[in-house]
Amino acid sequence: MNPQDLLKLAVTVAEEAAALIVERRRGTITVADTKSTITDVVTAVDRESEELIRARVLQARPDDSFLGEEGDDVVGTSGVRWVVDPIDGTVNYLYDHPTYAVSIAVEVDGTTVAGVVVDAPKGEVFTATLGGGAFLDGKPIQASNCSELPQALVGTGFGYDPVRRQVQAEVVAHLIAKIRDIRRIGVGAIDLCYVACGRLDAVYERGLNPWDYGAGALIASEAGARVGGLHGEPVSPEMSIAAAPELFDTFHDLLAEADPLRA
Ligand code: IPD
Ligand code: CA
Ligand code: CA
Repeated sequence: MNPQDLLKLAVTVAEEAAALIVERRRGTITVADTKSTITDVVTAVDRESEELIRARVLQARPDDSFLGEEGDDVVGTSGVRWVVDPIDGTVNYLYDHPTYAVSIAVEVDGTTVAGVVVDAPKGEVFTATLGGGAFLDGKPIQASNCSELPQALVGTGFGYDPVRRQVQAEVVAHLIAKIRDIRRIGVGAIDLCYVACGRLDAVYERGLNPWDYGAGALIASEAGARVGGLHGEPVSPEMSIAAAPELFDTFHDLLAEADPLRA
């Protein structure tokens, strides 16, 4: 249960899945199904990637639990759980926008101890272990030193539910005049990794799931970013915020002011 050993397996499997999805992207990608709404799509490759990850992980560690976005949960006995998004950024993938990722977090007794996010088309590998720092392609990374809202480049995303999206757009309208700019990259896990390496100063999103933020939240916090929800809550599907340490409080307050219950 050494986090470094768990990370090693996570990286091997994530890289194999990333190679698979890039290879499949050379062919025709079609929507296999829709999920929560008509815009919430899944392709056959999302499922194939998750099946590959599940098979590799459970082959190596048959007593572990597994939570993937697309398949049934597996409940094991070891106390270790793998939390997996087999393609984060499926809409980018469908349209061949070259940013999409495989995200794997490993929890021990409910605490994330290792995480990897592979930006599949770029081949960038973001990793972290609890207490062990964060890395991009093996080199240590750090969140930015941004401390002022007008200098803050902020990432966010929109959920698939149209009512939630409308509100999320209103929150962006509240922020946009006070910050440097907004980026909607389309990959929640990459948003968090970009805060980790200073390519963004802050990110926030309501409605992310554990497979979206599990690995990225650890990577961001190990890179020195502050990570949390609103009003001192931990990150959850309710709200995930990650920001440069000097920026977090001011950014949090602006977001909370936008609408604490609906942002
Ligand atoms: C989505 C992406 C997107 C975020 C959505 C997620 P998916 O994940 O991370 O950036 O805004 O909330 O659902 O569906 O591409 O795995
Ligand atoms: Ca996702
Ligand atoms: Ca996904």
